[in-house]
Amino acid sequence: MSVAVLRSAPSITRIAPRMSGVFEVAHPLIRHHLTRLRDKQTPPEEFRLLIGRLATLLAYEATKDLELIEQPIETPITRMTGQRVAGRIGLVPILRAGLGMVDTVLNLIPSAEVWHLGVYRDEKTALPVEYYSRFPQSRPVDVGLVLDPMLATGGSAIAALSTLREWQVPTVKLLSVIASREGIDHVAAMFPETQIYVCAIDPELNAHKFIVPGLGDAGDRIFNTQPS
Ligand code: PRP
Repeated sequence: MSVAVLRSAPSITRIAPRMSGVFEVAHPLIRHHLTRLRDKQTPPEEFRLLIGRLATLLAYEATKDLELIEQPIETPITRMTGQRVAGRIGLVPILRAGLGMVDTVLNLIPSAEVWHLGVYRDEKTALPVEYYSRFPQSRPVDVGLVLDPMLATGGSAIAALSTLREWQVPTVKLLSVIASREGIDHVAAMFPETQIYVCAIDPELNAHKFIVPGLGDAGDRIFNTQPS
C-alpha cells in the first residue's frame, strides 16, 4: 500500500485582481527572519545573513515555473532520464543593496549569469539615477531575476525593468524583500507582465520616501556605512 503524500499548504498569497502578478510569500520562516531584519538592533553581520536567507526563500518561490528539459544520466545502478533547467538565467542585482542577494541565489542557480545595474535614488528628488549598466545589445537571457531588497517609490525597480525590456528579456521577475504598497502598485501597473515576489508589503512611505515600518536603508545596513 502506498503512503499518502501530504502537500504543505501554499505559502504564497496572490494579490489579485488589481495587483495581478504580485506575490507576497507568507512563509513562517520568512516572517521570522524578516522580524530580525527589521529590528534596528540587528548588526550588519547578521543583517547580511538574513538578507541572503530571505533571498533564497524568495528565489525558491520565484523559480517554481522554470522550464526543464530532459537529461539522460546513468546512476550507479541504472540509466534514467532526469531533468535540468533549460535556458539562460540572468541575475540582475541593483547596486548596492541588491548585491546582498546575489551569492545565495547563485547557490541555488550556479549556472546563472550576473548582470550588474547601478542605480541610486537621489536624496532630494527620490528619483532614480542610473550610474552603471553594461548590458549587451543582443543575446538576452531567457529569464531575468531582478534583485533588490527594497522597493519604495518603485523608481529604481522601474529603471531596472526598463533596461531588461530594452534587452528584450522574455521573462522577467522582480525579487524584493520589502515593498511599499504605493511603490508596488506603481511597478505592477507599468510592468503587468512581470511577476513581483516580495516578503512583505508595508503600508506607506514617509516624507523622505522611506518605507514605513520598513527596515531603514538596506544598502547602509548591509555594507555598514552611514547614510551619506
Ligand atoms: C535603495 C534600495 C533600492 C531603492 C528603492 O537604494 O536598495 O534600490 O533605494 O527606492 P525606490 O523604490 O524609491 O527607487 P539606494 O538608492 O539607497 O542605493 P544603495 O543601494 O546604493 O544604498
